[in-house]
Amino acid sequence: MLNPLDMTGRTVLVTGASSGLGREVCVLLSELGAKVVLVARSPERLAETAARLSGTGHRIEAFDVSQVDAIPEWMKSIAAQTGPLSGVVHAAGIHFTVPLRVLQPAKLDDLMRINFGAAVALTKGLRQKGVRAERTSVVYFSSVMAVVGRQGVSAYAASKGALVSLAMSLALELASEGVRVNCVAPGHVRTEMAEKAEELLSAEQIKSIEDMHPLGLGEPRDVANAVSFLLSDASRWITGQTLVIDGGYTIH
Ligand SMILES: NC(=O)c1ccc[n+]([C@@H]2O[C@H](COP(=O)([O-])OP(=O)(O)OC[C@H]3O[C@@H](n4cnc5c(N)ncnc54)[C@H](OP(=O)(O)O)[C@@H]3O)[C@@H](O)[C@H]2O)c1
Repeated sequence: MLNPLDMTGRTVLVTGASSGLGREVCVLLSELGAKVVLVARSPERLAETAARLSGTGHRIEAFDVSQVDAIPEWMKSIAAQTGPLSGVVHAAGIHFTVPLRVLQPAKLDDLMRINFGAAVALTKGLRQKGVRAERTSVVYFSSVMAVVGRQGVSAYAASKGALVSLAMSLALELASEGVRVNCVAPGHVRTEMAEKAEELLSAEQIKSIEDMHPLGLGEPRDVANAVSFLLSDASRWITGQTLVIDGGYTIH
């Protein structure tokens, strides 16, 4: 039976594969037939993800994506073993809630390097000869915070907004090379990151975030479904876009 999301025969590199949304993307991609290169810092937690995957041929790559300068060579060495990559998903990210008066430049640098700089380096790495398949799709994890405001998350929001802009310009620059570039912008999904952010909020504030999602809070699979669509041939005419997946959060 025809499945427009089928990923059989494709290899996809996923950062943030050890937890939350990135982990669920890996599980779904494996169910759709892809071979997955699992990337994050913790080999133990990557092994936990690997244990949940369907199929064979997946690969664990413990790597710190804050080493942006090393990313292109590292990707070359991966592709030399896996064959060309049909997709790259940058789900690795960090978040902190901090008001402007105590926002430290060093923290800002970390945030921009991991959330945004690594996305640039991964895309640069993918372009290299032998690394990308003939048709390739890149998906960055932005956030609803890229398109609406919330107190205390200005730096995080800006790092996610930068990805939206990056995707538009790179989509134009790389279209002739067969590379599509898109973002997903999730609303609140209870992962480790979201639970940590909630620790700083009152019960009332948490309730108001929940109430802002008319369809309720999302599940990791809701976001993974959209990522799979953007990686698959079903979205072959879509590039430079940001797909908001938020249960209605941003339509207020
Ligand atoms: N959950 C939400 O509500 C939500 C909403 C909107 C957007 N997002 C975005 O979605 C993405 C995934 O979020 P999540 O909720 O799944 O977060 P999470 O559970 O905290 O997972 C974050 C992932 O990033 C990896 N990571 C962090 N720093 C890294 C580094 N320097 N090098 C390599 N990997 C690194 C972590 O692995 P290690 O610690 O093992 O390195 C982990 O796998 C993030 O970009 C986040 O901003 C999440």
